[in-house]
Amino acid sequence: MRKEVILATLGLRAGYGGKPVLQGLELEVREGEIVAVIGRNGVGKSTLMKSLIGLVPAMSGSIVYQGEAIEQLPAHKRARLGIGYVPQGRDVFPRLTVGENIAVGAAIKGDIPEDGRRQVLEAFPILAERWSQRAGTMSGGQQQQLAIARVLIAGPNLILLDEPSEGIQPNIVQEIAQNIVELNRKTGVTIMLVEQNLDMIRAMAQRCYVMDKGRIVASLDRDALNDETEMRRHLAV
Ligand SMILES: Nc1ncnc2c1ncn2[C@@H]1O[C@H](COP(=O)(O)OP(=O)(O)OP(=O)(O)O)[C@@H](O)[C@H]1O
Ligand SMILES: [Mg+2]
Repeated sequence: MRKEVILATLGLRAGYGGKPVLQGLELEVREGEIVAVIGRNGVGKSTLMKSLIGLVPAMSGSIVYQGEAIEQLPAHKRARLGIGYVPQGRDVFPRLTVGENIAVGAAIKGDIPEDGRRQVLEAFPILAERWSQRAGTMSGGQQQQLAIARVLIAGPNLILLDEPSEGIQPNIVQEIAQNIVELNRKTGVTIMLVEQNLDMIRAMAQRCYVMDKGRIVASLDRDALNDETEMRRHLAV
């Protein structure tokens, strides 16, 4: 049975200072999918993610999440509806510990509920060893897992990941990809990621949209992801 559409954009235009970067963007993600959006530098991938979570306002068009138009809602309301956003560059609080960062994600002061703690540590076991360590002293890969855990603690239905592989060593990229795939398999959480790293795309994505100049220009199925020449063409600068 085909799953319900969890997220769709219709003719979405959004940008900065009245100038649209997204030029009528259309995509659709179904519940439980892992979908990648790929594209060269500067085509508007991060703008898309920011516009989905509400950090860049929509100029026109629509964003439909679980059947509801959300393009007019502020970011915190979208988060409350179950959309988690992990920005490019991660933005964990460097001087807070792992546990404190996760508490911020749960919007609580103090102790994280035991079941929530168990879920994030099961997904990202490295964080158990690092629980009391300051986030800023950890590696890029560990910080990335923390950034995802911080979103996960709020119990999202959809997680938006903006270039999770950026600045991370290749072997760790694989480990993180596996952790996220496992999380998706166990919990059914939907994942949409923006990526340029072929290894991460292949290790995670079930299918993929290609973005260029603010639009989706192609939709690739799983088999196409293994076509090296085709993929390099879409990612080439
Ligand atoms: N805050 C901003 N104000 C004005 N223009 C911006 C802003 N952020 C991004 N842009 C411009 O919008 C366009 C798309 O940028 P965006 O960051 O969405 O691209 P991207 O595909 O995520 O690139 P990258 O692969 O480098 O992360 C670029 O031309 C960029 O210069
Ligand atoms: Mg970007």
